[in-house]
Amino acid sequence: MGTRRKKIMSQPVLFLTELLSLLSSHCIFVAAVSADCKCIVFDSTYGKEYGVFKSPNWPVPYEDNINCLLYTFISEQNYLIKLVFDEFDLGKSNLRCKYGDYVKLYLHLKEPLVNQNTSHNTFLCGKLSDIQQTHYSSGSALIFEFHTDWRHENNTGFRGTFRFLNKTLFQTVGEHQNGTKCDYKFISEKINQSKGRFFSPQYPSTYPKDVECSYQFIGRQNERVKIIFEQVHLQKSDLSCLNDPDNIEIHDGDSAESPVIEHLCNINTFVETVSTGPELYIVFRSQSHFPSQGFKATFQFEDDSTFGGDTETPLMEPDRRKLYQEITTAGPTPPCIQTIDSDNSKNGTFTSSNYSGPYPVNIHCVYHFTGRGRERVQILFTDFDLYLPSDEAKDCEGPIDAVMVFITINGQKERLNNFCGNNLPPQLMSNGPSMTVEFKSYQTPSNVKGFRAIYRFVTNFGITAGVQDPQQVCGFIFNSTVRTNGTFTSPNYPGLYPRATECHYFFYGKGSERLTLTFAYFDVEGVSPCTTDLASDFVEFSNFRTVDRKIPRHCGGKKPKIIESDGDFFRVAFKSNGKFDGTGFEAFYQFRNYVDPLTVKRISGVASLNPWKVSTLSPLLLITLWLMVL
Ligand SMILES: *[C@@H]1O[C@H](CO)[C@@H](O)[C@H](O)[C@H]1NC(C)=O
Ligand SMILES: *[C@@H]1O[C@H](CO)[C@@H](O)[C@H](O)[C@H]1NC(C)=O
Ligand SMILES: *[C@@H]1O[C@H](CO)[C@@H](O)[C@H](O)[C@H]1NC(C)=O
Ligand SMILES: *[C@@H]1O[C@H](CO)[C@@H](O)[C@H](O)[C@H]1NC(C)=O
Ligand SMILES: *[C@@H]1O[C@H](CO)[C@@H](O)[C@H](O)[C@H]1NC(C)=O
Ligand SMILES: *[C@@H]1O[C@H](CO)[C@@H](O)[C@H](O)[C@H]1NC(C)=O
Ligand SMILES: *[C@@H]1O[C@H](CO)[C@@H](O)[C@H](O)[C@H]1NC(C)=O
Ligand SMILES: *[C@@H]1O[C@H](CO)[C@@H](O)[C@H](O)[C@H]1NC(C)=O
Ligand SMILES: *[C@@H]1O[C@H](CO)[C@@H](O)[C@H](O)[C@H]1NC(C)=O
Repeated sequence: MGTRRKKIMSQPVLFLTELLSLLSSHCIFVAAVSADCKCIVFDSTYGKEYGVFKSPNWPVPYEDNINCLLYTFISEQNYLIKLVFDEFDLGKSNLRCKYGDYVKLYLHLKEPLVNQNTSHNTFLCGKLSDIQQTHYSSGSALIFEFHTDWRHENNTGFRGTFRFLNKTLFQTVGEHQNGTKCDYKFISEKINQSKGRFFSPQYPSTYPKDVECSYQFIGRQNERVKIIFEQVHLQKSDLSCLNDPDNIEIHDGDSAESPVIEHLCNINTFVETVSTGPELYIVFRSQSHFPSQGFKATFQFEDDSTFGGDTETPLMEPDRRKLYQEITTAGPTPPCIQTIDSDNSKNGTFTSSNYSGPYPVNIHCVYHFTGRGRERVQILFTDFDLYLPSDEAKDCEGPIDAVMVFITINGQKERLNNFCGNNLPPQLMSNGPSMTVEFKSYQTPSNVKGFRAIYRFVTNFGITAGVQDPQQVCGFIFNSTVRTNGTFTSPNYPGLYPRATECHYFFYGKGSERLTLTFAYFDVEGVSPCTTDLASDFVEFSNFRTVDRKIPRHCGGKKPKIIESDGDFFRVAFKSNGKFDGTGFEAFYQFRNYVDPLTVKRISGVASLNPWKVSTLSPLLLITLWLMVL
């Protein structure tokens, strides 16, 4: 960093007069925004890694009334331009920077010229913290216009660097489909490599508005498709993915009709998905007004037989016994590793060594659970008895016997929690298809039993009510023609809900019906108004498929009041983030025939009668209803 700064600072300051004298010779592209636009061309870094551009007089304040100065960057073919503003200080007289002092960026040019009809990408003004510093062109030209007005407020302008990047770095490996904007096929037999990269259109520049792109992966019969989204930068929003205009859907099969196993929106890093069969279909949609950078991802066709790994085949009982003997007789303990693959078993048990007798001292065992598709790992401890020397270790930290549970979030291994002593841990669920449990012992206890747990690879997120909707990662449909009442819960209830998980509950009544929801339990980690800024998980209600601004989000420990739908359709969404946990909710739903209170009033003359309100039922009746369901 230090040397770079020095290099830049040592460059002579270009004064406007000097700059303008350069222009006429360089400025071959005269088709300008308006007749008196001046332009300066940057088409080489003169052998250096990057070049420098700056506003006139920088760091001396720029002049007023610079009507239009065009900074034009031109690269060789098959290169694109990366622009970084390192210093930025422009007067900000309005929020959108459309007048006053501003920089107006044109990133998606076919040729290095602009006129009044050319569509721009964005305006910049204000301080460095107000702007996005890095911008990329989609092709070999990038232009920005610098404009200042009559106000002179001693702002210093900008200074930045530009680089030329080889376009092949961002080339999607698949076969582009003729006649489509951005549909690609990746056929394992045709492409000569089992792995490669793919990108959103125009990456690393911003993606276009209103596009729908597909990426279809076709493996050989014995292959699976593994996708890693290394970076996903879609329009930043606080919405659930269902309502986010920019999103990515991953289908487990050959078309958009295949079941959805992953739904991405907003910002994510290192999201991994594996198909259950040889095919995978990805759809990217952009419908927002402010496109973002998009995504970069890798794919790999993996042979079935490499799953579960030859090196990490599950340890069978005799092996485990042998290992255990080695552990007890040999000195330093090698970690004992078990890989439990959903291909081999969808459920089973695992225990500490020598369960239900005392476990050995200085043991370190690792249990890897790997599923695929929509699968989640659910773990239920049925017995838990570890040696705990004192009550001090409340958080189960330090060199004490403990079970540690890890998940992967944004490519990072994160600890869900540590468990020690003899309190049964809550039921746990992974956020993705894999999870790791570790057990470490330090003591030589004589009177402990160790632990026993049941694992399951589930595709229903532990939600047993309603009918699962294959077109959602975690979506459930409640149809009044099937059941008129019942309970539904958050994922993995009554255990901790999984992190970074979104579930939707769709309620369909008959035309004359309305829905009533009553919460029996509610514990959703967060602070009102339950937004992303507040790192809150939330439950959201809506009378539409879209957001319903009338009903506030719910989070925290307070149960929502009784909720009633306006019409025959109702939707409940649950969304957790990557932090903190709760036990979620349990709620009772009831479809009822709707009788217009006004009609009732007119007919019966009883003003307050409202027969479809649960609140008018006695608590006793409610409990009875409840019991009927259970
Ligand atoms: C801009 O568009 C208008 C209307 O489409 C057209 O009349 C005009 O010639 C265009 N200007 C340039 C410079 O292309
Ligand atoms: C700009 O700087 C000059 C010289 O330091 C000063 O006289 C003038 O008042 C400043 N103007 C504003 C708007 O701050
Ligand atoms: C761009 O990169 C590719 C792959 O690394 C290389 O083959 C190609 O020669 C590069 N292009 C130029 C113009 O240097
Ligand atoms: C796509 O276009 C290329 C070149 O125009 C042509 O060779 C190829 O056959 C076309 N493929 C399909 C599937 O139409
Ligand atoms: C395919 O890969 C093989 C081995 O890696 C190589 O020898 C061959 O030239 C490649 N073929 C094509 C068409 O790229
Ligand atoms: C375990 O899976 C088998 C089928 O693989 C199933 O029959 C059994 O009910 C499952 N047990 C539990 C506890 O889920
Ligand atoms: C294993 O457990 C049994 C009791 O079930 C106990 O007698 C034995 O000592 C334990 N073995 C070790 C090595 O601790
Ligand atoms: C509800 O069930 C009825 C009868 O089974 C069916 O006709 C209707 O399509 C279902 N509605 C939804 C939204 O699934
Ligand atoms: C609740 O559902 C059960 C089973 O579908 C049904 O027998 C019962 O009548 C329902 N109760 C009410 C009040 O709708």
